[in-house]
Amino acid sequence: MLKRINYDDRQHLVYARGRALPPDVVAAWMAEFARHSPSRRPLTVLDLGSGTGRFSPALAGTFGGPVYGVEPSARMRQVATTSAAHPSVSYLQGAAEKIPLPDDRCDLILLYLVIHHIQDLPAAAPEIARVLAPGGRLLIRNTFADRMPDPLWHRWFPRARMIEEELFPTVAEVVDAFARVGLRPAALTSIRHRLAAGPADYAARLRLRANSVFEQMTEREIAEGFAAMDADLAAHPGTDPVEEDCDLLILELDGAHGRVVHAGEQDGGAPPHQLSGQN
Ligand SMILES: C[S@@+](CC[C@H](N)C(=O)[O-])C[C@H]1O[C@@H](n2cnc3c(N)ncnc32)[C@H](O)[C@@H]1O
Repeated sequence: MLKRINYDDRQHLVYARGRALPPDVVAAWMAEFARHSPSRRPLTVLDLGSGTGRFSPALAGTFGGPVYGVEPSARMRQVATTSAAHPSVSYLQGAAEKIPLPDDRCDLILLYLVIHHIQDLPAAAPEIARVLAPGGRLLIRNTFADRMPDPLWHRWFPRARMIEEELFPTVAEVVDAFARVGLRPAALTSIRHRLAAGPADYAARLRLRANSVFEQMTEREIAEGFAAMDADLAAHPGTDPVEEDCDLLILELDGAHGRVVHAGEQDGGAPPHQLSGQN
């Protein structure tokens, strides 16, 4: 049984440093988000689970409209307010299960590494559909249990993969949760992005433990993992950038939002197994 992670406890101290992305990687994400969004501008964007505001200012720059960064952790929000301020971005207290916005307010909603933290997805799905305008898009960047990548750090922390398989939902679980409220899958893409300039930079960031999976491990196994990492990198220093494969699932709201689709009823859209992984 996995622990529930409260970002007010520790992650807020390290997240912005440990998970910072270079500007060109953020720009590549913005281009990918724009490719899957309505083409008109401006768009109103909800960055749901906005954390330290890693993407919120760039979303404002890309889509030209107001951006709402909704985040339950007061301390993550505090970091965002001080280090990721932007005139078009408002950071608001809230959560996926209770979004402080009126119906139909958003053209685009981003859930970036958030869906596995949502405790009550059946309550969150209609709330997300409620604030999304018809024709709006939901972009879900996450790892999915049925499409596990093979990140470098798993080599040193053998239990990480097991934890992640339990932590992350499958694509079908997510698609089903949103199909019930009229959101249908539009695409599933896979993107390779640069995490760190080289192994030394990667190791330094990993040491910050700005990944909630570490909070599911014992201090002993963490210490053993870092010792294995140090030995491995001393034997094979390497200079190549460290990259990772990232999935992005795109869902679209058509017609009347919030409609409950009952089991067995067709609501259009491609079933998950027909989604293109290369799109
Ligand atoms: C891994 S961080 C991702 C933050 C940000 N999206 C990013 O990529 O930098 C997960 C965030 O989800 C937030 N979170 C946890 N439960 C949530 C919920 N029910 N609704 C919205 N956000 C939630 C956490 O507080 C945390 O800030």
